[in-house]
Amino acid sequence: MSTAFQITPSNEILPAPDREKALENPGFGRYFTDHMVTAEWTEGTGWHSAQLRGLAPLQMHPATAVFHYAQEIFEGLKAYRHSDGSVWLFRPEANAARFARSAKRLALPVLDEKLFLAGVEELVRADKDWVPAHGGEGSLYIRPFMFASEAFLGVRAAAQATFCIIASPAGAYFPDGPTGISLWVSRSLSRAAEGGTGAAKCGGNYATGLAAQEEARANGCEQVLYLDAAEHEWIEESGTMNICLVTSDGELLTPGLGTILEGVTRDSILALAAEHGLRPVERRIGLSEVQQRCEDGTITEIFATGTAAVITPIISIKSAGTDITVGSGRPGKLALELREHLLGIQYGTRPDSHGWMRRVA
Ligand code: COI
Repeated sequence: MSTAFQITPSNEILPAPDREKALENPGFGRYFTDHMVTAEWTEGTGWHSAQLRGLAPLQMHPATAVFHYAQEIFEGLKAYRHSDGSVWLFRPEANAARFARSAKRLALPVLDEKLFLAGVEELVRADKDWVPAHGGEGSLYIRPFMFASEAFLGVRAAAQATFCIIASPAGAYFPDGPTGISLWVSRSLSRAAEGGTGAAKCGGNYATGLAAQEEARANGCEQVLYLDAAEHEWIEESGTMNICLVTSDGELLTPGLGTILEGVTRDSILALAAEHGLRPVERRIGLSEVQQRCEDGTITEIFATGTAAVITPIISIKSAGTDITVGSGRPGKLALELREHLLGIQYGTRPDSHGWMRRVA
């Protein structure tokens, strides 16, 4: 199908004073903009009925396949306001490409990347007044997703799917983000295994992480640090973020791809590393190595990366019988420098030398 959307502006636009109030302190995922994008896929016909319309509940039959077998994928990307009022997306092509990879893994129809990008741009343009003002760390978080929308209880790839994009103004994902958070190593709960869905961005990966996240919270930590499912030794990711470690000899270490999410922020930080005197190294990293090298001071910083979390310093790693303090127990210098660099590119206050930004309004 073409990338043309039928446009029906909402007749229930939130009044400007209410929108401004929401934008004062949006938090994360609490408020939603006035419009949404939807498109339908039917086996044999392909994609059709692409439209931008007012945000509204979706009506679904109780037998809709996604409720039963979790055939669902999603993305997360952000729009940023620059000082001249213009609105920009950060590497949306990378999200479109990952969405296509996730669709293949979940046996969902692959959405043309051009349609993904056109949908995101239509929505941001329609709701550009929801992009927080330049000057803080606010952004518009955009959530494209796709789910099996056929009403059918047999276990097979659904013959109908729905693509949808919604958007939500966002402040910091972790209120204490730049001051550093603690990770909890779950010894019994795993996120992903070889051949599983670890690299896909699918709701199921997050649903299975909730019990571990509760365990983390019960132990005074903000997030989980997952280990590999086979040996329970190799660090993977944190469930909402990838992990990076800085060594005293200038390496930026991060677990290699395979069973972790192929993070767009992770990839961007690896690309920026050299400008901060760091050599990016992707390899297996054992928890015992992390513990020993945090103790002897040859791992100097750890931080997490993600669209929602940006760059979040990790100040300690805990688990039953282990309490690792990272560096001085305060956010690392390079983590904060990389954070400022990335945010500078995103908000247009630093040169976009990699050509990552795309103007939409
Ligand atoms: C993102 O950073 O976009 C994520 O996927 C995290 C989200 C689940 C809150």
